[in-house]
Amino acid sequence: MAALRAALAASLAVARARPPPLGRRPPSARCSALAGAMEPAPRWLAGLRFDNRALRALPVETPPPGPEGAPSAPRPVPGACFSRARPEPLRRPRVVALSEPALALLGLDAPPAREAEAALFFSGNALLPGAEPAAHCYCGHQFGQFAGQLGDGAAMYVGEVCTEAGERWELQLKGAGPTPFSRQADGRKVLRSSIREFLCSEAMFHLGIPTTRAGSCVSSQSTVVRDPFYDGNPRPEPCAVVLRLAPTFLRFGSFEIFKPRDEHTGRAGPSVGRDDIRLQMLDYVISTFYPEIQASHPGDPVQKHAAFFREVTRRTARLVAEWQCVGFCHGVLNTDNMSIVGLTIDYGPFGFLDRYDPGHVCNASDTAGRYSYGKQPEVCRWNLQKLAEALDPALPLELAEAILAQEFDAEFGRHYLQKMRRKLGLVQTEQEGDGALVAQLLETMHLTGADFTNSFSLLSSFPAAPESPDLDEFLAALTAQCASLEELRLAFRPQMDPRQLAMMLMLAQSNPQLLALIGTRASLARELERVEQQSRLEQLSEAELHSKNRSRWAAWLHDYRARLEKDREASGDAATWQAERTRVMRANNPKYVLRNYIAQGAIEAAESGDFSEVRRGLKLLETPYGGEAEAASEVAAETGGAAGRRRSYSSKPPLWAAELCVT
Ligand SMILES: *[C@@H]1O[C@H](CO)[C@@H](O)[C@H](O)[C@H]1NC(C)=O
Ligand SMILES: *[C@@H]1O[C@H](CO)[C@@H](O)[C@H](O)[C@H]1NC(C)=O
Repeated sequence: MAALRAALAASLAVARARPPPLGRRPPSARCSALAGAMEPAPRWLAGLRFDNRALRALPVETPPPGPEGAPSAPRPVPGACFSRARPEPLRRPRVVALSEPALALLGLDAPPAREAEAALFFSGNALLPGAEPAAHCYCGHQFGQFAGQLGDGAAMYVGEVCTEAGERWELQLKGAGPTPFSRQADGRKVLRSSIREFLCSEAMFHLGIPTTRAGSCVSSQSTVVRDPFYDGNPRPEPCAVVLRLAPTFLRFGSFEIFKPRDEHTGRAGPSVGRDDIRLQMLDYVISTFYPEIQASHPGDPVQKHAAFFREVTRRTARLVAEWQCVGFCHGVLNTDNMSIVGLTIDYGPFGFLDRYDPGHVCNASDTAGRYSYGKQPEVCRWNLQKLAEALDPALPLELAEAILAQEFDAEFGRHYLQKMRRKLGLVQTEQEGDGALVAQLLETMHLTGADFTNSFSLLSSFPAAPESPDLDEFLAALTAQCASLEELRLAFRPQMDPRQLAMMLMLAQSNPQLLALIGTRASLARELERVEQQSRLEQLSEAELHSKNRSRWAAWLHDYRARLEKDREASGDAATWQAERTRVMRANNPKYVLRNYIAQGAIEAAESGDFSEVRRGLKLLETPYGGEAEAASEVAAETGGAAGRRRSYSSKPPLWAAELCVT
């Protein structure tokens, strides 16, 4: 115990000495060795310089060839972090969209004349000189259970590009074909999910949230059969590939390949007992992506690993605080979807909150709600616990757990409140009741079914001064963001067959253990809540609802105005304060987030061969807080459009959006 305390104190002292980096993205890995050796004018893609450090630093296997040169079959990959792979060509690849700011990270511009070249290389149909495609081996806990070996089943490491700016970017092709980790799947991604990942990666970056980036989305005439709603209606869909960029795509799950046989699932990692590889991985990750930690712990590996785990814990806590503040729901927070450098990684059934609901679940198949919006902080902490277990003995578990207890909640709470205060325009010093004011705001949004993004955005124009005219107009705008009776009835419609519900209720009484065992207790509770809400709504008229909404908002705005008044007093000069407050709020409350219905519009157009909606959406999401592109695009949105469904990107979603099912 005393030893633990001493170790912890030592590790904390070092951590304190170093202010936590607050940058918008973690500094990318440096590439000093190659800087300077660049040609002055790169020949577009052929000018990219690769330096594949991960493959040099970590064990890589070359898989045995499959029958007649076919790619080798899915199998366990022991003793290696990567397995060499080869993208499988697609028929007639075509660029859907390129992200100029993402490609600029590689020193590339994105002229239209280069689209054919981009389609060729970013589909994986041709390999750039210096590229060494490989699939990464990792494990993971899926929905709380250890799943054994997972690995890059549809994504491939392509190599690391060193830029003239001295940065190192790992390139990855997602959807490039089968690897040893594909299990029963075909290693492909369809256009629909690729567009979602492409748009959201870029949208998150421009929101200021750490994330992997997306440089391109390429579609093709190859197809695979998918059942998008898992309802027995499979259809062929076009294959697509997304070019992803990040300092690294290593995950928490990358360290889980050493896990011995799990007592619940009976599964084991492929590299049990290989403590040497764990040390190799730690050394690679820390020296490449946490060089300041490497430098400050030359002689003491345990302290170095402790400082690393502390920093991963802090970054993860800040990341999930950012998600909560923008209403982002990841959807599948398995340990293999958690980046080792604190980025948002793997965009699947994610969603942004429309109507504020802490219980919102965006993966339609996650019926138990394990990964609901409100549970994300808790789940990230749980995932860090799994990372801690995976680092033992290189970092003794006891020490890692103490760090987690010491850092996670504190860092999350600090960052969350700091961000929320900015969203509310509280620019002076923090006050005792600020956390409660935020909680009451969320409660008000929940009770009135208010739109999360638009409510915050509207607050930026709240007439703060006590002498401003009465609140009627503002309240009317705010209540227009609340859910209508019709929307609420739709949101709370029961989802179970009444007979199924009756049976489960009976089971709950007669055999609660069995109910818990089959894991349906949570979904039963949710269904009961829906039934109850539904009957409450039955008895409510539109007028009653409206007046309720209004009075709830009026009460909160009253408190808010009082709090603003204190902030203004603390600042001295009212005009300066007002300007500062407006600036801070506009910079922290986005007007545009990638709502599902926006992505859906872009996907439907793209599936019929029109990529302009994807490109237009991308442009708008580059200035989520409002900007130049905005006005033009918004006009186009409101006047143009064969779809008839088009509306302004900042509108709260239309009713049909509630029926969108993302799996
Ligand atoms: C997250 O992890 C699981 C495997 O644990 C995987 O099935 C899922 O597709 C991953 N990615 C996303 C985008 O959810
Ligand atoms: C959504 O949840 C289901 C059930 O828990 C899970 O099997 C599925 O893999 C999840 N979806 C994705 C894309 O990971």
